[in-house]
Order: sequence, then structure tokens, then C-alpha cells
Amino acid sequence: MPHTNLFLSFLLLFVTQPYCQILTLAADVRGQWKLLQKSIGISAMHMQLLNNDHVIMFDRTDFGYSNLSLPKGKCRYDPGEEVHKIDCTAHSIEYDVLTNKFRPLMVQTDVWCSAGAAMPNGTLIQTGGYRDGAFRVRIFTPCNSTIGCDWVEVPNGLKMSRWYATNHILPDGRQIIIGGRRHFNYEFYPKNNAPEAYSFPFLLQTYDPYIENNLYPFVFLNVDGNLFIFANNRAILFDYKQKKVVKTYPTIPGGEPRNYPSTGSAVLLPLMLQAGTNNIVAAEVLVCGGAPKGSFMQAKTGNHVKALDTCGRIVITDENPQWSMETMPQGRVMNDMILLPNGNVLIINGAKAGTAGWEYGRNPASKPILYQPNNPRGSRFELQNPSTIPRMYHSTAILVRDGRVLVGGSNPHRFYNFTGVLFPTELSLEAFHPSYLEAQFDNLRPKIIWPDATSNIGYGQKLWLRFRVIGTLAEDKVSVTMVAPPFNTHSFSMNQRLLLLGIEKVTNVDTWTYDIQVKTPFSGNLAPSGYYMLFVVHQEIPSEGIWVKLM
Ligand SMILES: *[C@@H]1O[C@H](CO)[C@@H](O)[C@H](O)[C@H]1NC(C)=O
Ligand SMILES: *[C@@H]1O[C@H](CO)[C@@H](O)[C@H](O)[C@H]1NC(C)=O
Ligand SMILES: *[C@@H]1O[C@H](CO)[C@@H](O)[C@H](O)[C@H]1NC(C)=O
Ligand SMILES: *[C@@H]1O[C@H](CO)[C@@H](O)[C@H](O)[C@H]1NC(C)=O
Repeated sequence: MPHTNLFLSFLLLFVTQPYCQILTLAADVRGQWKLLQKSIGISAMHMQLLNNDHVIMFDRTDFGYSNLSLPKGKCRYDPGEEVHKIDCTAHSIEYDVLTNKFRPLMVQTDVWCSAGAAMPNGTLIQTGGYRDGAFRVRIFTPCNSTIGCDWVEVPNGLKMSRWYATNHILPDGRQIIIGGRRHFNYEFYPKNNAPEAYSFPFLLQTYDPYIENNLYPFVFLNVDGNLFIFANNRAILFDYKQKKVVKTYPTIPGGEPRNYPSTGSAVLLPLMLQAGTNNIVAAEVLVCGGAPKGSFMQAKTGNHVKALDTCGRIVITDENPQWSMETMPQGRVMNDMILLPNGNVLIINGAKAGTAGWEYGRNPASKPILYQPNNPRGSRFELQNPSTIPRMYHSTAILVRDGRVLVGGSNPHRFYNFTGVLFPTELSLEAFHPSYLEAQFDNLRPKIIWPDATSNIGYGQKLWLRFRVIGTLAEDKVSVTMVAPPFNTHSFSMNQRLLLLGIEKVTNVDTWTYDIQVKTPFSGNLAPSGYYMLFVVHQEIPSEGIWVKLM
């Protein structure tokens, strides 16, 4: 945000004063947790929000029988399957955010440790997995659930097997699929005129021969159209069209690994677009958490090393980029990083010791951490209220349109193990309600009244929105943000992107009613075409979002 939030800081000042009891009771500004479902029948290892407010979730087909049956007597018959050759249970669901209901879906092959992205037309294209799933492309098109659409699978949709790869949506509407276990290359989907898998030596250079530490690389589309790719402890800027490295960033100070299984996470910080100029913006990446070198081997011997408590922040568009290091209130591994509609980052899930991998995490990190990128250094992190449910390896988190963060999964075991184990398999679904959802902020909260349905927006255009605020509007503290719905798995949100649109003017049209004119992103490098959640934010309190389709 271009402004710091005086109001929240003011409130915080009071709640931290012990003698100010009344305000303390009125103002819990550290977020709240609510249990949505005790069991959705599967363990949500992968999640993608679609533009009809349904979330597609799945785990893997070789966990054993899930707690949810497939409909109409359907079963998977798979002679190659390791656990059950006939399995009539579901390993994927469609969850409806608005009704808090879900239904089973049928994946036909193993989706374990796969990847994906929502395409410009809203269809989820999901790629890879394990064994019979490794070369698959799976397609899920949003539909009205009562009609009952399901996964459609494309055998041999991939050139290489892709297990632990990272996908990103490109300005031309394709996905790039990068890496995967023992594959130092990338490919595209759809293939168009690029049918091959192209060699990518950076993944070999950052490969730790003992334990990899560079799987599920952190990939972000930079504003110049190149890809920022972070693996292990360093990053490059990569021109996938010319197949060349255009910039090598310094190693993150300390040199500790941040990718699987030393799993930390990363976000592209909010991109601030300007109304008047040609949308020229600086882009910054924040990498947080992970496990020190050697942690995986240590965990194997029963020694669970303390997780990294550092974050590195870097302006990736700088001519001479340098990391700036910050320290979190606690160490984190397997942490997710979620961009909130107001531009803050929520660091959530994971553990304080150990690593990713079967049975190797310890000390659940039950308190999310809020990171406020625009606060001065030293006052950016704030611990939030804890969940009671450990969210360890294979847990997930995503933002939904009403501003909550859905949290699910956690299964550090090879099977569905509900008893007699440390951190039993979690089938539950929770929501974290960031403090901006508190009723005490209702008089600051904008409500978008126009557009009142999903609308198409073009590039570099003026966009009018009408909103209401029942209270005094601080005109200079209004912003409009657009958030792409990411694909979340293994502590990374692929395709996560938040744009702060340039504001041209705000006009008061009636009591409590305002029009705001913003400029939409100038190009597909800033924001690839597709569905975004759009929010009006006032003094860091976001409205409920609306869907827009940028095209
Ligand atoms: C899942 O099913 C098993 C056996 O059918 C049962 O013991 C277990 O309690 C169920 N777990 C949950 C979380 O519903
Ligand atoms: C959306 O695009 C993908 C390819 O990018 C295609 O497979 C899918 O069928 C399209 N969906 C619809 C509903 O047209
Ligand atoms: C979904 O389809 C059912 C049956 O055709 C219909 O009654 C319902 O209104 C539809 N829901 C939506 C959201 O379109
Ligand atoms: C986990 O579940 C599997 C399959 O049901 C079972 O064989 C195994 O013994 C369980 N592990 C433990 C530690 O209970």
C-alpha cells in the first residue's frame, strides 16, 4: 500500500496496553479460526479456487481408501496401483465456498505432488503426478455442480514425467511446466509450436545430489516478461522464448536452501501500477523460511533441526539487485505465503523444526504471521492467533473471495493414518479470518455495488467501480487490488499475483456512495489474461471481491 495503516497501528497500540481492558475486549486484531468441515473425506494436498467460487482439492490415489466414496458405484481399477488395485473412494473433491458443501470427483491416475494453473478461460489444467499419473494432463472446467462435471484426463499430455514441478501461466495463455524430479528441463501446455522439452541447466546447477533441495522451484512472471526462478538458494531471470538466462541474482545471504524438501515459500509482492504512466512498476520477491542444509539427513536420524527464521527480499527489476534480510518472530518450514487483498502477506501452516518428507516435521507452527511489506523494517511481522490443528507436510491454504483463507490438509504419513501416529492425517477444512473481517471495521469496509456480476475488462483501459462505505471515507486511503487465484501445493502458490491498480479519481456520488476510476493493467506481462478477484480496499479493510475477467 502507498500508505501505512495509521488506524490499525493506533488500535494495536491500545490493545498492547494492559491497562486498556475495554478496548482489548472489543478489538481482537489477531484473526480468528473457524472449523468449516470436520472431514471432507480426503486430505487437501492441492487446492485451486475457480471463478465460480468452487475449490478443486485432491490428494493422491496411493494413500489407501479415503473417507469419501465415489458416486454411483464408480471405482478405479488400476493393476499398477501400489496400495489398492480396486478403489471405490474419491481422492478429489469440489468444494463450494458459498454453501460450504462438497462432492466427490474422480481422478483416474495418481495426482501425487503435481502442479497446475487456471487457464485464461477459467479451466483448471493440472499436470503430472506419480507413476501412471506422471505424463498426464487433467482438465477441469468449472460448471454447475448439479450437472456434475468431472476431471477429463489426457494420456501422454506431457513430454516428460513431471513430479514436483512448478507451473506458471504465461502472457500468451499457455502454461510453462518447469522441472520435476530428475528433469532439468521445461515444456509448455498447450504445446502450440513448442512440442519439445527444453533443457534447463539451472536446475542441475542448483541440485543438491543428496537431497535435491530445488524441487517445486519458486517461479514468478516478472514485469518484463521474463521468469524469475528461485531454486535451492539462488535465482535467475530467464527468457523462456530465447532459452537464455538474462540475469543471475546473488545467492541468498547465508546460502541456506529454501526449496523442497528444505521447503520454505515465496511471494511476488504486490505490483503497484501507476495510472498516468505506462504502468511501469518495480517487482519485488519475498522468500521466507526453509530448513538449514543437512536438515533432511538429520531428520532421518531423529534430529529435527530448527527451521530457518529468515526472509530475503529482493527488487528483481533492479539493475544491481541485492537481498535484504529480515527475521521472523519464529522459524518456519513448510510455511505457505498468501497474498491478502490489502497487500499484506500471511505466512501460515508448517512447522518450527524438521523438513518436508514423510514423518520429518516437528513443532507445528500454529500461529500465522502477518507480514506488512510497507511498514518500516523491524515492524513488519506480527504473530496471529493460533489454530488448534497442526498443518504439517501436505497442508494447503488459499484466499477466497470473501477475504478468508481456507486451510486444509496435512498428512505426513504414507497412508491415511488417523490413530497411533504423530500428527494424524487431517481431513478437516478450516478458515482463517484475518482481522480485517472483524465487525468493528464494518464502518470502514467498502461494498462494491457495480459491477454486480463478473465482467470482462480489457488491458490499459479505464475501469469504473461504484462502492459504498457506511462511515467517513478517507479518499487517499482507498485502493483497488486484483488477485489471481493460485494453485497451491507443497507450501507454494503457483501463479499467485496481486496488482494494485493505479487510481485516476474518486467521486462522491451520493451519501456513502462513491465512484472510483482506475486504470487496468497495461499488458499481459503485468497480468496474464484470466480471472481475477477484484477488491476495493479502504484503510486496509478490503471489500468482498468480485470476479473480473481480464482479456
Ligand atoms: C475415516 O474413516 C475411518 C474408518 O472408516 C474412521 O475410523 C475415521 O474416524 C474417519 N476419519 C475421519 C476424520 O472422519
Ligand atoms: C479452456 O482452454 C483449455 C486449453 O487452454 C481447453 O483445454 C479447455 O477445453 C477450454 N475450456 C473451455 C470451456 O473451452
Ligand atoms: C444448476 O443447475 C440446476 C439444475 O439444472 C439449477 O436448478 C440451478 O439453478 C443451477 N445453479 C446455478 C448456480 O446455475
Ligand atoms: C498407517 O496405515 C497403514 C494402512 O492402513 C497401516 O498399514 C500402517 O500400519 C499405519 N501406520 C501406523 C503407524 O499406524
